[in-house]
Amino acid sequence: MGEPNWQNRTLFRGDNLKFLRAMNSESVDLIATDPPFNKGRDFHATPDSLAAGARFQDRWSWEKDVHQDWLDQIRDDCPAVWEVIDAANAVYMRPTKKNLSKPRDEVGSDMGAFLCFMAVRLLEMHRVLKPTGSIYLHCDPTASHYLKAIMDAIFGWRQFVNEIVWSYRSGGGSKRHFGKKHDTIFWYSVKHNKHTFNTDEVRIPYDAVIAKKWEHKFNKKGKVSGDVWDISRPANHSNERIGYPTQKPLALYKRILEASSNKGDIVLDPFCGCATTLLAAERLNRQWAGIDIWSKAHEVILERLEQHWLVTLGKTKHSLLDENVHYSTDLPVRTDSGEKAVPFLRVKVRVKEPDGPRWTRAEMYEHLLEQHGPKCQGCNRVFDDPRYLELDHNTPRSDGGLNHVSNRILLCGPCNRLKSNTFTLSGLRRQNQKRGYMK
Ligand SMILES: C[S@@+](CC[C@H](N)C(=O)[O-])C[C@H]1O[C@@H](n2cnc3c(N)ncnc32)[C@H](O)[C@@H]1O
Ligand SMILES: [Zn+2]
Repeated sequence: MGEPNWQNRTLFRGDNLKFLRAMNSESVDLIATDPPFNKGRDFHATPDSLAAGARFQDRWSWEKDVHQDWLDQIRDDCPAVWEVIDAANAVYMRPTKKNLSKPRDEVGSDMGAFLCFMAVRLLEMHRVLKPTGSIYLHCDPTASHYLKAIMDAIFGWRQFVNEIVWSYRSGGGSKRHFGKKHDTIFWYSVKHNKHTFNTDEVRIPYDAVIAKKWEHKFNKKGKVSGDVWDISRPANHSNERIGYPTQKPLALYKRILEASSNKGDIVLDPFCGCATTLLAAERLNRQWAGIDIWSKAHEVILERLEQHWLVTLGKTKHSLLDENVHYSTDLPVRTDSGEKAVPFLRVKVRVKEPDGPRWTRAEMYEHLLEQHGPKCQGCNRVFDDPRYLELDHNTPRSDGGLNHVSNRILLCGPCNRLKSNTFTLSGLRRQNQKRGYMK
């Protein structure tokens, strides 16, 4: 397993994708994170609060936010994720004249854009987690149904452990529908049944009457908690509340860390906001790193940690912070083998991609069309419309095949499905011959 290539108590500032990509594989025990939810609006901090001025954007657009390299990575490294995003695009597409006149697979949606943003980051989170690790992904009903499908695709549906309902009392009353008073937290392990679960750390007391009656039978620490957690949001006037928009209760993240990590373990929150996860980690003697794009988050985090140390240790203002908290806008340097593929696609024989700029899928497609014409390389059928041809790998990725154009082929849909991850091109052509599909 990898060592982390960053120091304990590091705050990274910037886009988490680039930091995640620069982190060593298999170096983190637990990720507990609360990303944007795709609420279609911006969040602002309470004026006059510690976090005053903080804001973050939670609206997404296919045209503005989706990068070509994200689409390439998703399609190459985890095609099942692309299927989920494609499904979301079909459902959320705006039926404008312009959209309806385009081929279906060229029309995106706001939901699709948000999911692309999440998918590339979740692929990296999966890579940096140890095989014994876990991830808790906090979302709400806006996108949780698609995120669960994406998690199934990336972590594997067998690794799904719990859907935790965080139930709160505040907010969300309406005369048109029931109050919206819960968030959803998905817990996935990396390897089936290899995750940490400290049952005794997260027991909750029995109901007093029952406990008295059955005293001799019950575990003194209480019962194992169910998957619906009643925890109130930090009240507006409470000490805990610092005004950061979307701040989550410390008790919620403490429970997650107590359940799924041990003292000394390494906890990462790539969307750390005002650092609820990091503070929970500090209190429970875990090592931690957090990433957030916004500088205000970092001021607030430092302020919060300072308060924590002042109260618990009586240390003076800057001494502990300066000595112990590392602040960085520079990328960490990979000290592992630099393996880029997500672990489940890790190659049997590792081959290095040739140097030089990476081609986009569109460029490879054009190149192959020029080389072979609009012909399926699996069955020799010629198409009058190149859209019938799909870009695929010759040697499958799972067998060490490169993303590079030298390992790319154009196949018609039926050939692509027949080939799947089982054959190379010559194997596919043999199959076609045998089955009489060759043109
Ligand atoms: C829902 S908030 C997290 C709140 C946190 N759980 C807390 O209790 O304070 C999401 C955070 O993700 C950050 N964020 C959004 N996109 C990001 C990106 N690409 N890279 C790093 N941080 C990002 C936002 O600045 C925001 O602070
Ligand atoms: Zn074909």
